[in-house]
Amino acid sequence: MKNLYDDTKGVLISREEIAAIVKRLGKEISEDYADKSPVMVSILKGAFIFMADLVREVTVPCSIDFMCVSSYGNAATTSGRVKIIKDLDTNIEGKDVIIVEDILDSGVTLSHLIKMLSDRKPASIKICTLFDKPEGHKVDITPAYKGTDVPNEFIVGYGLDYAERYRNLPDVCILKPEIYA
Ligand code: IMP
Ligand code: MG
Repeated sequence: MKNLYDDTKGVLISREEIAAIVKRLGKEISEDYADKSPVMVSILKGAFIFMADLVREVTVPCSIDFMCVSSYGNAATTSGRVKIIKDLDTNIEGKDVIIVEDILDSGVTLSHLIKMLSDRKPASIKICTLFDKPEGHKVDITPAYKGTDVPNEFIVGYGLDYAERYRNLPDVCILKPEIYA
């Protein structure tokens, strides 16, 4: 039987480490939004597992919504284009929005998204990203909430994919370069 871990160079961040990080982020958000009721907007598909775990660590009332944007196709490098595949169901005018993203790399996806969502006049808009690749940044972007920095390598698992695979790995692993070469 094929083992998904065989395509990786091993575990970078274990499920236990991820759980601790997500718990900390939930606490930070709960404290900052103590008197508010944020709309948590998850960016599909990569952030779906993070979103599910994060909202259960948030103790203030919140609503959830999903958006699907695409900038990568099946390639491991950014194309610099962002396309809305599924828009929000919620009207975010006057709402406190938290964008829940799996990983910040070039920042192109998120900066486009922030621009688009800002036009809808939310009361506030902040980014919560689980992972950040500081070496990859091409635009000036600072997430209000960040799980942890990761090296400039292609990682998969815990929702993150390569060509739609590996999302179901419970740990975050570094993909072997020969898989995407
Ligand atoms: P950005 O516009 O370059 O910041 O693109 C961020 C998006 O690219 C994320 O939401 C991911 O879908 C994808 N991405 C960037 N780096 C990785 C990675 O190491 N593994 C899996 N997906 C990644
Ligand atoms: Mg992706």
